[in-house]
Amino acid sequence: MHVNDTSQGSSSRPSAEDDAIGRFERLYAEAERGAAEVPWDLAAPHSLLAEWTARVRPDGSGRRAVVVGCGFGRDAEHLTGLGFTTVAFDVSPTAVRAARRRHAGSPVRYEVADLFDPPADWAGGFDLVLESMNVQALPVGLRARATAAVGRLVAPRGMLLVIAAGRRPGDAVDGPPWPLTRAEVESFAAAGLTPGPVEEITAPDGGLRWRAEFHRS
Ligand SMILES: C[S@@+](CC[C@H](N)C(=O)[O-])C[C@H]1O[C@@H](n2cnc3c(N)ncnc32)[C@H](O)[C@@H]1O
Repeated sequence: MHVNDTSQGSSSRPSAEDDAIGRFERLYAEAERGAAEVPWDLAAPHSLLAEWTARVRPDGSGRRAVVVGCGFGRDAEHLTGLGFTTVAFDVSPTAVRAARRRHAGSPVRYEVADLFDPPADWAGGFDLVLESMNVQALPVGLRARATAAVGRLVAPRGMLLVIAAGRRPGDAVDGPPWPLTRAEVESFAAAGLTPGPVEEITAPDGGLRWRAEFHRS
C-alpha cells in the first residue's frame, strides 16, 4: 500500500494485518480529538537513541537519515539537530500532520508513507536508518517483511540502528507489542547488512531492550 492521505486497506496484505496497521491511524485520530493518549508521545528522543548519539557522536553533515514510523517526530528532530538531512515517515496521515504542526519550520521532511511500499527512490537512499520500536508493534506475520523493508533503505556505507523491546525465546507474548528475540534482532543482518554490536539493555522498568547496529559495506 502506498499511502498518500488515507490508511485504507492493501491488496497485497491480509486484512487482519491491514487492520493492525490501521489501528495506529485510529489511535492518532482519537488522540487528536482528545479521546486517547499516544503512549509514545514524549517530548524527548528515545533514551537509547540519545545515549547512542552522545557516545558515537555521528556527524550528520552531508549525510541523509530516515526515521521509520516517526510518530510525532521526537527522534527525527534529534537527528536533524545532529546535522543529518532527515526524512521521517509514518503510515498514519494524522501523525504526520501533527508532526509537521508541532515542528513547524523544522528542516525534517515529514512524509506519509508505508514501510511496505516506500517511494522507489528511498531504496538504498539513507546513510543512517533509524528503526525504533516499530517492527515490534506490527503483527508477527509481518515481521520478516518489515525487517527486510527497513534494511533496504540503507545506503552503501550506511548503517541501520535498531531499538526494540526484547523478549527471551519461550517468553509468552501477548501483543501488541510483540517484543523481539535476539535472533529476530539479528535477522536485520540480511541482504548485505553486516551486524555490529547488539546491546542487551535493562530498561528502568526492568524490561529487556535491544540496541543494535548493522552496516552496509
Ligand atoms: C509504537 S509506534 C512508535 C513510534 C516512534 N517510532 C516512537 O518511538 O516514538 C509505531 C509507529 O509505526 C507506525 N507504523 C506502523 N506501521 C507502519 C508502516 N507500515 N509504515 C510506516 N509506519 C508505520 C505507526 O503509525 C506508529 O507511529
